[in-house]
This record gives sequence, structure tokens and C-alpha cells, in this order.
Amino acid sequence: MTAQIKLVEITDANRDAVVALRVHPAQERFVASVENSFRDAERHPEAKPWFRAVYDGDVPVGFVMVSWNLVPGPEMRGPYFLWRLLVDAQQQGRGYGTAILDEVVRRIRAAGATELITSCVPGEGCPEPFYRRYGFVPTGEIDADGEVVLSLDLSARP
Ligand SMILES: CC(C)(COP(=O)(O)OP(=O)(O)OC[C@H]1O[C@@H](n2cnc3c(N)ncnc32)[C@H](O)[C@@H]1OP(=O)(O)O)[C@@H](O)C(=O)NCCC(=O)NCCS
Repeated sequence: MTAQIKLVEITDANRDAVVALRVHPAQERFVASVENSFRDAERHPEAKPWFRAVYDGDVPVGFVMVSWNLVPGPEMRGPYFLWRLLVDAQQQGRGYGTAILDEVVRRIRAAGATELITSCVPGEGCPEPFYRRYGFVPTGEIDADGEVVLSLDLSARP
């Protein structure tokens, strides 16, 4: 069954609850925290950060940040780049990650995107199998930080 989620703007009212989301300690090397993502978004406006909290009903379950229609360059892939994706440790394995990708894909497609790019740190427990299962394929590139670059062809999806 598809998990029911909604993407919600982050305000003073929900900020603390969203910042409190945590992945498993062993996953911390694969993704930055929500707090650090806010900082990165502020420091890099040229990366066109767009972020939302992910809720199931009244419960915050995750966080997603996308580079939304940036101008690609030597250091930035795009125009649409999945920059951060995390589901709280207690909420993983329930379909939320997949549902978040579905919603992001729906929204960027409506904005005219034909491809969603991401990258991930390789290693035991890394999210690459999750992305591949969704339909992302490695481009063969390794970025400057040693991350594997993956691409999802939106035109190939129903
Ligand atoms: C990756 C992540 C977002 C997946 O979220 P999730 O809500 O657990 O994903 P889903 O429940 O939709 O999982 C879909 C499928 O992928 C599989 N899967 C999820 N994470 C996986 C991983 N790290 N390795 C292998 N398979 C994985 C699930 O087992 C599930 O398979 P199933 O359909 O056979 O049950 C979540 O595990 C997470 O936040 N990880 C830590 C942060 C991270 O690595 N983010 C990505 C940064 S690039």
C-alpha cells in the first residue's frame, strides 16, 4: 500500500519538530541533518534549495530538499537535483521514502523536469539500492566528494 504523506512548509510552528527528526546513527554518514540542511540552503542560494517537511497526518516523518531548476555547472548537477532525503529512524521501512519520491517526481514534472539527479555516499547500508529499486540508474560518474551520481529518467515513467 502506498504511504499517505503530505509535504508541508517549515515555519516557526513546526521547525523544532522537524529539526528533531533523526536517522539511525549508522546512517548519519549518508545524509546531513535537517539543521545542517537549513544552513546549506542559506549558504547556497545559487543551488535553488526547495525544502519541505514530510507528514503523515499530524506526525512529522521526514524531510526532503531539492535543488529546484538550478543552472547546472561544473560543481552543480541539475536542473533538478535531490539534495537531501531522510525518513526518521522510527518511521523507516513503511513506504514513506518511496511516497516522498513519488510526490517530488509529480511536482517537478509539473514544473517541466525530465530528469531527477541525485548522488549518494557508497558503502554498507547506503541508500543506493533504495534509489535503484525506484528506477534511478548510476550515470557512471563519481562526484568531487566521491559520491555515486544517479539519474531518474522521468520520461520513462508512467
Ligand atoms: C533511504 C530512506 C530515505 C528510505 O526511506 P524508507 O521510508 O525506509 O523507504 P521505503 O519504506 O519506501 O523503502 C522502499 C524499499 O527500499 C528498501 N530500502 C530502503 N532503504 C534501503 C537501504 N538503505 N538499502 C537497501 N534497501 C533499502 C526498503 O527495504 C523497501 O523495500 P521493500 O519494498 O522490499 O520493503 C531512509 O532509509 C533514510 O532516511 N535513510 C537514511 C538517510 C539517507 O541515506 N538518505 C539518502 C541520502 S542520499
